[in-house]
Amino acid sequence: MRKYVVTFIVAVLIVAGGFLAWDKHRTPAADGEVVEKTPALSPQKSSQAEASGTTAVKGTVSESTTKNQDSQTSSNQPKSGEAGKSTGQTQTAKNVNSNNTDSKPSAGSKSDSEASAKGSSKTGGKTEFVNTYSVEHVVSNPESMNVLVNKTYRLPAGYVPPDLVYPNVPFTFSEKIDKRKMRKEAATALEKLFAGAKKDGVSLAGVSAYRSESRQTTLYNNYVKRDGVKAADTYSARPGHSEHQTGLTIDVSGSTGKCAAESCFAGTKEAKWLAKHAHEYGFIVRYPEGKDSITGYEYEPWHLRYIGTKIAQTVASRSTTLEQYFGSSIPVSK
Ligand code: DAL
Ligand code: ZN
Repeated sequence: MRKYVVTFIVAVLIVAGGFLAWDKHRTPAADGEVVEKTPALSPQKSSQAEASGTTAVKGTVSESTTKNQDSQTSSNQPKSGEAGKSTGQTQTAKNVNSNNTDSKPSAGSKSDSEASAKGSSKTGGKTEFVNTYSVEHVVSNPESMNVLVNKTYRLPAGYVPPDLVYPNVPFTFSEKIDKRKMRKEAATALEKLFAGAKKDGVSLAGVSAYRSESRQTTLYNNYVKRDGVKAADTYSARPGHSEHQTGLTIDVSGSTGKCAAESCFAGTKEAKWLAKHAHEYGFIVRYPEGKDSITGYEYEPWHLRYIGTKIAQTVASRSTTLEQYFGSSIPVSK
């Protein structure tokens, strides 16, 4: 009898051990449900996976579709409305800071950000997901010169910047329309940048500056219609996620408008001048070559973002991105 009891206890221990070993491969979800563990994706992979989702945004589709519609000189009005559907995917991604070699801002430079300056109690946390739309935060400092806008951090719905003015610089078109406008501080800095370029024998022209959320909706939807979501997401921001809506950004070309907002602008003397000198005037080339897995966008040597000379100089000297500069200190309301 005793022999049978011992055998029974040993059998029970073996079965229990096997169960525990199997359970180690599973992770409890927040709600207590047990789910299979999925490996984290690299930022690049996660961007691709996310981009393959089919997402369209309510808005209008009516303008002709060249590669970069907003570099066109016409100002066609939208005609018909077209609603879309959203089937975005949720993915996981590594913190971009753990995936690159650029150093984070020093304690001193970090204090430049409004997050610490204003003592915001809520931030977006880690800078993960910045190159995808899988997580969305609404920034609480949209009017700050330091605002970070990207695929993760969006502007409040319908945000319109204050103090929009017309910078006194040439544009590739003559109409006095919205896309000529910039915030006052950025406009003044742009005038200085254009004058500095001229001194060096480089003639620049503005192509596209401020864009309202509805204008971005029209553009993005047209690109999606033409190229599909995956491709459009590599070069056009979804509404609420474009830096152009901040009034701190402008696309710039040479005075002839040749290659305006086109990849052939890369390598031109104007692009080289901007890459070398923009930071002296408080601007950065926001989407540098080879950083698309961090910024979420392919190389745009024409897209300048005003951020002030201090941060611009730091970002330029480190050949880094705004995402890496700000790290996790992004103030958010949601
Ligand atoms: N081309 C940039 C990413 C924008 O649409 O804001
Ligand atoms: Zn741009």
